[in-house]
Amino acid sequence: MSQLSVEHLLGIKYLNKQDIDLIFQTADHFKEVINRPIKKVPSLRDITIANLFFENSTRTKLSFELAEKRLSADIINFSAGQSSVKKGETLIDTVNNILSMKVDIVVMRHPNVGAGVFLSQHVDAKIINAGDGTHEHPTQALLDSYSIREKLGSVTGKKVVIIGDILHSRVALSNIFALKMQGAQVKVCGPTTLIPKHVKSLGIEVEINLKKALAWCDVANVLRVQHERMDIKYFPTTREYKQLFGINKEILDSLDKKIVIMHPGPINRGVEITSDVADADQSIILNQVENGVAVRMAVIYLLAQQIKR
Ligand code: NCD
Repeated sequence: MSQLSVEHLLGIKYLNKQDIDLIFQTADHFKEVINRPIKKVPSLRDITIANLFFENSTRTKLSFELAEKRLSADIINFSAGQSSVKKGETLIDTVNNILSMKVDIVVMRHPNVGAGVFLSQHVDAKIINAGDGTHEHPTQALLDSYSIREKLGSVTGKKVVIIGDILHSRVALSNIFALKMQGAQVKVCGPTTLIPKHVKSLGIEVEINLKKALAWCDVANVLRVQHERMDIKYFPTTREYKQLFGINKEILDSLDKKIVIMHPGPINRGVEITSDVADADQSIILNQVENGVAVRMAVIYLLAQQIKR
């Protein structure tokens, strides 16, 4: 059985194409498992996983938990809001306390960039980054590419535009790395204030005209406007944002082809995407959620194979 080239999943930038292929082949197997009447395998019966969420999350947390349960791992859950972090405990102390309970794998979401890397250097457990600030969100990018592969047969050669708040988005950065690694063509589109200055150095193009971007692409990955990360005003009004960068039925109907619509969630219905588009048959938003469980099962399973037991 092949192995991943990495000991942790800290970011897509540390992976190679073979790793992504291996994760997808493993996820294909688990996708079949989660569609069986008994959706569970005993693979990780001897493994304990801690889910440490220092930042809010709904679907990522539920998706990891479900993936772990489907693999029969023991799990413990921790959310910063209800913990001693509020009493001033450091990250290392919190995590070491949890690890003394003999945890093998830590899934961590943290508001600080590089939190996962830091942890992997200080604690003896496998680390999976479930989002570190505005940096990376590797399992989201993997499930996004997996969903494109499922819908269009392959990621290689496909034209993907990522739309919206690129500046604050860990989903955008991880997607850019993953898509480029698999040979897709990538553009970003959004208000110039929300496009990082040096984004072209990642080998992608910037298209500020939404209509042109949509006419070019096979897939549009629409991002949430991350108000909670904005310390200043990046665009005048939500109404103007909607007019210039919102995805609605009229703009999609004006194209001469049917493109695939994606969104990592949570959706701001009526802001970056209208309800009819989010629920349309060209939207694969709920397939992304389903695939998230299979892809996370694959990542956890492959990392667990490296643990000596
Ligand atoms: C994303 C995140 O938290 O980075 N959501 C997610 O994981 N499904 C994107 C977002 O919050 O907009």
